Amino acid sequence: MIQKPVFFVRDIPVYGDLILSPMDGYSDQPYRALCRSLGSAMSYTEFINALDVLGGHPHLPRKLAYLEEERPVVYQIFDSEPRRLLEVALRLQECGPDIIDINMGCSVRCVSGRGAGAGLLREPGKVAQIFSLLSRSLKVPVTAKMRLGWDDDSLNYRQIARIVEENGGALIAVHGRTRLQGYGGQADWEAIAEIKRSLSIPVIANGDVSRVADIERIKAETGCDGVMIGRAAIGNPWIFSRLDRDQVSETQLQDTMQRHLDNMLDFYGPERGLVLFRKHASRYLRSLDLSTDQRQRLLTASLPVEFLQTLADLNA
Ligand SMILES: Cc1cc2nc3c(=O)[nH]c(=O)nc-3n(C[C@H](O)[C@H](O)[C@H](O)COP(=O)(O)O)c2cc1C
Repeated sequence: MIQKPVFFVRDIPVYGDLILSPMDGYSDQPYRALCRSLGSAMSYTEFINALDVLGGHPHLPRKLAYLEEERPVVYQIFDSEPRRLLEVALRLQECGPDIIDINMGCSVRCVSGRGAGAGLLREPGKVAQIFSLLSRSLKVPVTAKMRLGWDDDSLNYRQIARIVEENGGALIAVHGRTRLQGYGGQADWEAIAEIKRSLSIPVIANGDVSRVADIERIKAETGCDGVMIGRAAIGNPWIFSRLDRDQVSETQLQDTMQRHLDNMLDFYGPERGLVLFRKHASRYLRSLDLSTDQRQRLLTASLPVEFLQTLADLNA
């Protein structure tokens, strides 16, 4: 069957409407590849600090690693300085991503407080400069992920979205909250709808999609081209196949956990891979009726084989 693209990022076809959110500490190559295989249509990296690229941070090669089957691959970067973002984006472009994304949503103080992430929303002039510089200088499309403004008194999303589009931005993903809200309160889907109505580039809606039913709701309410899913995908990568966690069989759960763990062991090595897998494991196991002892044994297993045997024993 020939699949039709759902939307394009400039000339790059995207064959699906669900996308794993960039999530620091979660959307690494093993998890992205798993979600991509289950239906996520693009692969956004965790955010990458421009200063780490310039300084050659030891974690950088892992952050930049991707598999061919993940394409389109989006490198997301953050910084406050247009010239530095340009220099870093030009360097990163050489690693072969399909798209470079500018983070204009990160709310944590050490990022937004220094004028990067959501801090950029307070400086529309800089946003214009960044998108103008990068879209003229890069071969790959440049996109934005943004929030609605710094706080309720500065809801400048209409202005920021227009600036991104007018200066060559090729797509905008919108998390429907302000920086001040962090992750509290409710995402404002009507504001996302307003952005979608005012632009001609693709708009991706993001915020508070917890179950499959929310996907059609956010699409209907915003008219967006796609939906980005973050927290609800941790422990439920099947959401990209439009399955809620309670629709996933025990066998599917075990197979997927094993695959995810194998990917992590390959990528990080046996020791670190298992340790980093634990935070995913606790989310996969959250809805199971496990005894404290069973949960404890799974989450403290020191060898992959021990973890997998304990997991298999649950069904015995
Ligand atoms: C643990 C965690 C890490 C995150 N890291 C990033 C990031 O690196 N880049 C980014 O643009 N957003 C990041 N976000 C925000 C998410 O991409 C998303 O916008 C937010 O969680 C709202 O979507 P949700 O309601 O589907 O979770 C992060 C969120 C969480 C929970």
